[in-house]
Amino acid sequence: MPEHTLLELADVHTFYGVIEALKGISMEVRAGEVVTLIGSNGAGKSTTLMTISGVERPRAGTITFNERRIEKVNPDKVVKLGISQAPEGRRVFPELTVLENLEMGAYPRRDGRREQQKDIAWVFSLFPVLKERRKQEGGTLSGGEQQMLTIGRALMARPKLLLLDEPSLGLAPFLVETIFRTIEQINKEGTTLLLVEQNALMALNLADRAYVLETGQITLSGPARELLQDPRVKEAYLGG
Ligand SMILES: Nc1ncnc2c1ncn2[C@@H]1O[C@H](COP(=O)(O)OP(=O)(O)OP(=O)(O)O)[C@@H](O)[C@H]1O
Ligand SMILES: [Mg+2]
Repeated sequence: MPEHTLLELADVHTFYGVIEALKGISMEVRAGEVVTLIGSNGAGKSTTLMTISGVERPRAGTITFNERRIEKVNPDKVVKLGISQAPEGRRVFPELTVLENLEMGAYPRRDGRREQQKDIAWVFSLFPVLKERRKQEGGTLSGGEQQMLTIGRALMARPKLLLLDEPSLGLAPFLVETIFRTIEQINKEGTTLLLVEQNALMALNLADRAYVLETGQITLSGPARELLQDPRVKEAYLGG
């Protein structure tokens, strides 16, 4: 069972110019958990992940990871501390091969090539299609394959906490199933997950706990199982 708090956000405010995208968010992720953040378009889900990974800097509030304050830490350093993000959309290096994309993901690590080879094998076991296409350029992969490569590359940093932004976006239903099963496997193999999803049903079925974000504020939170039954969640996110 999940134990200690790995990540904690306390009253986090993030702005884009004068727009307050996060209006005082507090949440936590415990070691071993899958936590999901659900909400409509523009609610602030990606902003939350970007703020955790150091890409956006909060104007107020604190973020604590492994008992260390990180709200002013640069993105590179955040990765080194053990948080990596698979961003929304398919952000692969289009001119690099699948293998080279994965090798790029290992840049924050100082261990040797052998360890990296082991992890490439691990990523290939999670996403067998990437192995078949290891010499193909990233930009020529299908959308779903690029999505897998984005996740695989984030895993190459061997994060303690993996931030996933809409991993199922735009995928055919059978691929959505595959992605969710793989996410579950990644968690079982020891990586803590914070998952942003529009597919609230799948996300709530997978997660231990969940937060609902509405226009920059958390309006509901609790065990994912309970939120699945919550009439407000059913109405707004599960199609009534
Ligand atoms: N770079 C930016 N500059 C200005 N405003 C931004 C920027 N990025 C996001 N916003 C605004 O901040 C708010 C939150 O956006 P965010 O991308 O976090 O939403 P989201 O919940 O991830 O939405 P979606 O489900 O559509 O991905 C939105 O109103 C958006 O227009
Ligand atoms: Mg988003």
